[in-house]
Amino acid sequence: MSQREQWSSKIGFILAAAGSAIGLGAIWKFPYIAGQNGGGAFFLIFILFTLLLGLPLLLAEFSIGRTAESNAVDSYRKIAPGTRWHWVGILGMVTSFILLSFYSVIGGWIVVYLFKAITGQLNNLSSDQYAEVFGATISNPVTSVFVQFLFILMTIIVVAKGVQKGIELASKIMMPALFILFILLVVRAVTLDNAMAGITFLLQPDFSKVTSQTILEAMGQSFFTLSVGVSVMVTYSSYLPKTQSLPRSAISIVAMNIFIVLLAGLAIFPAVFAFDLEPGAGPVLLFNVLPTVFSQLPFGMLFFIAFLVLFLFAALTSAFSMLEIIVSVISKGEPEKRKKWSWIIGLSIFIFGIPSALSFGILGDITLFDKTIFDLADFAVSNVLLPIGSLLIALFVPMKMKKTALYEELKQGSGLKRGLFETWFFLIRFVAPLLIVIVMLDVLGLF
Ligand code: PFF
Repeated sequence: MSQREQWSSKIGFILAAAGSAIGLGAIWKFPYIAGQNGGGAFFLIFILFTLLLGLPLLLAEFSIGRTAESNAVDSYRKIAPGTRWHWVGILGMVTSFILLSFYSVIGGWIVVYLFKAITGQLNNLSSDQYAEVFGATISNPVTSVFVQFLFILMTIIVVAKGVQKGIELASKIMMPALFILFILLVVRAVTLDNAMAGITFLLQPDFSKVTSQTILEAMGQSFFTLSVGVSVMVTYSSYLPKTQSLPRSAISIVAMNIFIVLLAGLAIFPAVFAFDLEPGAGPVLLFNVLPTVFSQLPFGMLFFIAFLVLFLFAALTSAFSMLEIIVSVISKGEPEKRKKWSWIIGLSIFIFGIPSALSFGILGDITLFDKTIFDLADFAVSNVLLPIGSLLIALFVPMKMKKTALYEELKQGSGLKRGLFETWFFLIRFVAPLLIVIVMLDVLGLF
């Protein structure tokens, strides 16, 4: 498929970009990071970062992609020829590589849970037993590496086939289904005994728990859930016709994401408190809590299986974007090369990611700065590479793109008002770079 082929429909682009955004970040990562960071205050700071930084940055990536109509590296080359700005795209490729190496570990967990649920191994267990079964599964080296491999394999197969056919079609059915199932889950969770304690935990800010680390985590989380800072959104919007409204697309993606984060929080925390579980349990939180909530529903296991299928799909559509950005640069849009490179890069990521998969078992004792290999990879991506990538994008747009041309680009298909454009430009030019630098220096104790 030619790289410059366009999305077959407006909704196709929205779904694919939303598919990249909505994934493990909102559903798996948000609840556990919020759980470790005191709940409500983290949630509020996360929302603020999403609106003040994430949304403007998403729009910035869209405007770069649709202006240049090229891949993540050449887009920068095209707009700023003869400069080093294309390193922003290369940095994005490196970020994506590391990101998929640990993302696939969690993707694998979904696969293995799905298998266990389908084969009836999760029927009628207590909440403690769920945690035990899960702990034993992910600490098994063969299982964890094998399911990680399966997850990457699915990603490779779809990306090797090309953007449209692979990603667009399935999204149309799966994403709405995920929303519906989530709402059902929330209804059950908030009607559990003692659910109120969980709702309060999520929605009532307690600022005494906020540290510079919390703020960094909230910022990293907002970039992570929106897939910004990697130039993935540059790549996706480069396939977009000029008739599409970029601001509207960005806003709807942010709104969907916030909604899913809220649903995930409302599904998890009431249950955590109702069953006396630990909100700070870490990466296993969702996997320990969810089966317990589902087991409280009639036909719970059937719903759980449906949920896992959709959850797997949400994780896959994000994973596609990570592999896609690397493949689209290296294969330069030539179909024969796309296939070959999808396999080469995908398998390299798998090999690189094996130590992360083993971090929950035999390599669990290997730590640096108190973090396991998995935690380190996650930290490097979420709290270092994504902020740096985002910072560079926020600098690139006002420095290398003409303001009038930007306004024209954003106005196409949207009729964007001048005042809103100016607000966006201000946020990108001043607020985003300053905030990112302050948050990062603050955490290093330099501020
Ligand atoms: N936004 C994805 C999620 O929340 O699961 C993760 C992600 C995908 C981050 C692609 C960055 C990226 F480039």
